[in-house]
Amino acid sequence: MTGTNAPVPIEPDGATAVVTGGASGIGRAIAAELLTRGARVVVADIEEPALDRAVAELGAQATGRVVGVRTDVTDEDGVRELAERTWEWSGGCDLVFLNAGVTSGGGGLPWQQEPNDWRWCLGVNVVGVGIGVSEFVPRLLADGGPSQVVVTSSKDGGIAPVATAAVYAASKAAVTCFTEALQLNLERADGDVGASVFYPSGGLMDTGLYSAARNRPEHLQRQGEGTGRAGTTFDELVERVTKATGRTPRIADLGELARIAVDGACRRSFVIATDLDATAALLHERAEAIGRGELPPAHPIGL
Ligand SMILES: NC(=O)c1ccc[n+]([C@@H]2O[C@H](COP(=O)([O-])OP(=O)(O)OC[C@H]3O[C@@H](n4cnc5c(N)ncnc54)[C@H](O)[C@@H]3O)[C@@H](O)[C@H]2O)c1
Repeated sequence: MTGTNAPVPIEPDGATAVVTGGASGIGRAIAAELLTRGARVVVADIEEPALDRAVAELGAQATGRVVGVRTDVTDEDGVRELAERTWEWSGGCDLVFLNAGVTSGGGGLPWQQEPNDWRWCLGVNVVGVGIGVSEFVPRLLADGGPSQVVVTSSKDGGIAPVATAAVYAASKAAVTCFTEALQLNLERADGDVGASVFYPSGGLMDTGLYSAARNRPEHLQRQGEGTGRAGTTFDELVERVTKATGRTPRIADLGELARIAVDGACRRSFVIATDLDATAALLHERAEAIGRGELPPAHPIGL
């Protein structure tokens, strides 16, 4: 694929897709949308009971087209096995959603973050994406494509940081930058493989992200007292944003979000997101501030 030619679209009906972090929230909604459109889906997730439940429920309307593979995205052997099992099950792969992600834990100020907060959050959100790319892209290139790798970033970090989520924002800035570099290289590579960066948007998202610590490994727990907070729940976030803005925030429809993600992946857009006008306006303000040598504005959710 070259930068000037329109990419060959991917037909989801009959395609094979992998969704990491597919047992819950946005990933699960993407898996459901792919199945509705006739794809075969490998759901990969670290949380085994949630994975089993998701596969059973998703499989009820798509018999034989969905399998679950318990995977820790930070473990390269496990991700290699995920790729091998996908090729064994389906003979190839067309769409890879590298979507698994976590927050950094108990919130707090940048200087209250512990090394283990960094290790866990960047381990899953950044190293996990890197391992996914290293295991899947060479196989996709060898098969020739067309295929698409979609990296879930966040406007928090990928566009501008939410000041109260410094580590998470840093992780998402990293994967946005990495995905851009990935696509620049894929455009020069043999084989029709593309990359997309997906910014979930359209309102606050009621997903498992606010209880991400349920999957935090023992060896990466906080060592000190930290902020003494367990992290913000979704209800607390809604309350905080309502108080800060004076109105009830929009709550995103995960089904609609998944349709946007799957449409964008199949169309093979580099950026997959809604509300791009507001995003572009914020980026202009940021560029102008940087041009003046000033601190650029933050993502407004940090109010
Ligand atoms: N919820 C939001 O407001 C929001 C906004 C922008 C971006 N995102 C991003 O969307 C993605 C999905 O998050 P979500 O909001 O649906 O949260 P979620 O907790 O509902 O889903 C994340 C999934 O990732 C899995 N996971 C966690 N660690 C893993 C690991 N090491 N290996 C494999 N799987 C692992 C979890 O078990 C869970 O099923 C994340 O990358 C997140 O950063 C979320």
